Amino acid sequence: MAKKKPLPKIAVFCSGRGSNFEAIAKSIAKGGLRCEIACMFSDNSEAYAFTRAERLDIPSIYINPKSFNSREDYEKAIVKELKFLSVEWIVLAGYMRLLTPYFIKKYKNRIVNIHPSLLPAFKGADAIGDALSYGVKVTGVTVHLVDEQMDNGPIILQKAVEIKEDDNRESLADRIHRVEHKLYPQALNILFSRNWKVVKKRRFVLS
Ligand code: GRF
Repeated sequence: MAKKKPLPKIAVFCSGRGSNFEAIAKSIAKGGLRCEIACMFSDNSEAYAFTRAERLDIPSIYINPKSFNSREDYEKAIVKELKFLSVEWIVLAGYMRLLTPYFIKKYKNRIVNIHPSLLPAFKGADAIGDALSYGVKVTGVTVHLVDEQMDNGPIILQKAVEIKEDDNRESLADRIHRVEHKLYPQALNILFSRNWKVVKKRRFVLS
């Protein structure tokens, strides 16, 4: 009998709410996404993502960044935990800490991020607020591989979200999050089950 291919093991990194983490976990439970969450990792002991992890019965890890002298030392401690759990993929979901080149090299083309805008527009921590203040009529969601620059790597999937005349921050964020919760599992499925390559360090293409 042919051996079944083992499921890819992921760690989901969250600093706050963790709604994307939950959406990914639910998509796995429904059979839509084929991978295994080895752990939810957070740099913030107060993150609501811990409550979700407990409810979902997913192991969680907190490491206090303040206990380390440098960002790299902090990441070395994280890598130790991830190796112990045989984690192959890092899924950033509202992780607010910049990763160093050390970590990015260690998981080259195996770190994924979701950003609430149509990149390269509105990079940074307040993409939803920035899109509203700029007055664009369309924004959206991007799922991309992570490289050394912030909100920059090869784009896997994007989806547009229209900005309505009477939108405020809350209503727009709400619609964007609903799109995110579908788009992230879809993008992860592409990564885990299709053949793909990155052309000229920039373009993500199916092969
Ligand atoms: C999302 O909007 C994501 O695009 C951004 O951070 C937010 C995280 O939300 N990177 P949540 O913690 O998954 O609810």
